[in-house]
This record gives sequence, structure tokens and C-alpha cells, in this order.
Amino acid sequence: MSKISDIKAIQVLDSRGVPTVSCSITLDNNITAKSIVPSGASTGTKEALELRDGNKDYLGKGVQNAVNNINTILKPALIGLDPCEQSQLDTIIIEIDGTSDKSSIGANAILAVSLAISHVAAKDKGIELHRHFADIYQNITGSKVESNLPMPMLNILNGGEHADNNIDIQEFMIIPKGAQSFKEAMRWSSEIYQNLKSILKSKKLSTAVGDEGGFAPNLQSNEEAIKLILEAIENSSLIPGKDVFISLDCAASEFFDGENYNLVGEGRSLNPESFANYLEELVDRYPIISIEDGMDENDYEGWRILTEKISAKCQLVGDDLFVTNKTIFQEGIINNLANSILIKFNQIGSITETIETINMANTNDYKSIISHRSGETEDTTIADLAVGLGAGQIKTGAPCRSDRVAKYNRLLWIEEESPELSLSQ
Ligand code: PGA
Ligand code: ZN
Repeated sequence: MSKISDIKAIQVLDSRGVPTVSCSITLDNNITAKSIVPSGASTGTKEALELRDGNKDYLGKGVQNAVNNINTILKPALIGLDPCEQSQLDTIIIEIDGTSDKSSIGANAILAVSLAISHVAAKDKGIELHRHFADIYQNITGSKVESNLPMPMLNILNGGEHADNNIDIQEFMIIPKGAQSFKEAMRWSSEIYQNLKSILKSKKLSTAVGDEGGFAPNLQSNEEAIKLILEAIENSSLIPGKDVFISLDCAASEFFDGENYNLVGEGRSLNPESFANYLEELVDRYPIISIEDGMDENDYEGWRILTEKISAKCQLVGDDLFVTNKTIFQEGIINNLANSILIKFNQIGSITETIETINMANTNDYKSIISHRSGETEDTTIADLAVGLGAGQIKTGAPCRSDRVAKYNRLLWIEEESPELSLSQ
């Protein structure tokens, strides 16, 4: 049994050039592994706290305090412990923090350590990280999951907080559901992305990309964005609604004023009932099979209306609504809100709690979608998490920008090296 012999954290940069926490863990047999944590922009208000320095360095966005918390507080508590005991180690760290939102040590510090523990343990066992995650799931929950390759959701057109344009819906994604392999799913998606670029160019629209690699042109309406994507699918000799489907992330908390949903780009202001009707019309008119954060995170009545209206015909995903938090998610399940959950490990701050939340989804018939953040890095842990836990779906941006593509490339290698894994349908 190997033991942790050293832990070292430093400040590195994410895809927006903003500081984030990176952690390296070394074992007494000299095996070492590193992690880097991601960071959101359209964050849910109930997410665990990302500790930022707030001083003059990096315009207040430094994470040196979080880094120091690892090097001076967490390190001495973890030296000598076995990294294979993920939940035991996460529990120790969470208890040291002692707050419900991880505001003392910082969720970014805690997650960096939690991720590095899982990486170094997998290396020590000499197995792929996704297999180690499957083992951890079994250790924590007592039940086995079937690993598979996740169906990707690729965000190819950006609006909202992720782009400087006039589209209100944050993400327009494609789901290459008809693909027979992950490789094929990626080829189709890349072709659609390139065809969308050509269409935008021919219409003299911007082909600059947003934070998640999707294009961010100035368009008249959300519907125009959907139509352009359908055209790009057809130009790729694929059939919308058969080969490829559409998924939206409204990130509706960003345009809800407490009473109405303000579609500024379209000059419309809709109450929750009317906004639910607006979304239902989109679902009826276009091959949209998934909508994330279709209502504000605190608008439970809006969520109730939306779920009642369209949950039979559309996946309804809670991101800001559930923030990967077991307690908040449990309340949502009791109130029958949404039918799926987005999983972002930095919303809750540790691998163990992330797995517990996924287990709650599995036992309550909710689907889990493993997700990146808009501020990402070369860390590809979420690819392995999606595979190991057999989540079935992953959302990690456009087939563009290395911070996004790194995850898809990792999945392409997993598919190549694990022929027994099939693509989740
Ligand atoms: P975020 O966006 O990482 O900026 O929160 C992603 C999402 O809303 O799904
Ligand atoms: Zn979201």
C-alpha cells in the first residue's frame, strides 16, 4: 500500500487566462500526478465557494490563498495516507474545512486535491483513471455501474454570458445520436462545425468563437441560431432529427428578473408560463431533445410548469438548479423538478460528493450529464469520470480550442484502447 509523501499546489491559468489551482501529489514510491480545477462564469448562486484573493494581483482573481491552504493546511493532514481511500480522504478534507460551502479552505483548493488523489491512486494501481472511478463508485455506493462512452453534446453556437452578442440562450448544442461509435460522433460533429463556419462566413457573420469554442455571431433571434445549425447538419449530409439532434442550455437565471424572462435579443419579456410555452414551441418545431436550465434556479414554480409541460418529450436538465449538491438535488427530486442533472465537480468540490450525487440520480431515475466549465484547462478528468461511471452523456464544448478538444481526444483514446466499451445511445 503506497502512501502520500508530498503535496504541492501552485497557481496556473485557465482558458480565459484567469488563475486557477493546480495540485501535484507524490507517493512514497515516487509515483506522481497533477490536477487543475476549472471555473464557471454563469455560476449558480448555491455553488460551493471558489476562493479568490480579491487583492490587486490578477485584478482580484488570484487564487494564492487557496494554493496556500493546500500547501500549509491540507498537506500535513494527508501525508502518510493511502490515496486509494478516496472517500476517507475527501471526508478528512471536508471536515478540516468545516463549512457547508467550503468557504474556509475554498472549493477550488479542495477539488484540486481530491482530483489529484484520484489520479495518483489510479497510477499507483496501474489502471486507467476511468476504471479507478468505477471502483470508487462501487466502494462508495456498494453497487456496480456499467462503464460506457458518453454521447457528446457539443456547444457550437454561443450566446448569453459566454459571448458578446445579442443571443439570450447561452448554448446551442448538437447531439450526434445516430453515430455508431464515439469516433463517428466526433467526425460528424467536426464536419457540422466546419460547415456552420462556412455558412456564417457566406452570410458575412462573425466566426469568432466564445468561451466554449462555439461561434458567437450577432443573430436576430434564438430561432435563427437553431435554423443555422440545422442548415449546417444538412450540409454535412446528415439528417436533423434522425442522425443529429439539438440541445439547449438557456442558463435562464441570467435573464430572469424575479418575475419575467427577458429575451433582450428578441425584445420580449415573458412570464414563467409564457416562457415555458415558448420553449415547448421550440421543442415541437425543431429536433430539440434536451433543455438545460430552462427556468431560473429559484423559480421552482416555473420549473414545475416546465417539467409538467414537456418532461415527457424532452430531457430537462438542472445545472444552476441543482449545483451537483445532494441536498438541493434531493429537494428537487421530491418536488418533481426536471428529469436530469448536470454534474460539475467544482460546484460541490470533491470527487466523493460528486459520485454521491450521481448515485442519487441513478437511484431516482434522473439522467446525469458530466460537464466542463466555461473556464477550462488541459485537465481531462471529466472524460474518465463520464466513462467510468457510465453517465451516458458528456458536455464539453465545441470541437475547437484545446481546452475543449482535450476531453474529446481523451475519449477517442479510451475508445481505441477499450474496445469492449460502447457508445451510450
Ligand atoms: P459555466 O457555464 O461554466 O460558465 O457555469 C456552463 C453551463 O452553464 O453549463
Ligand atoms: Zn448550464
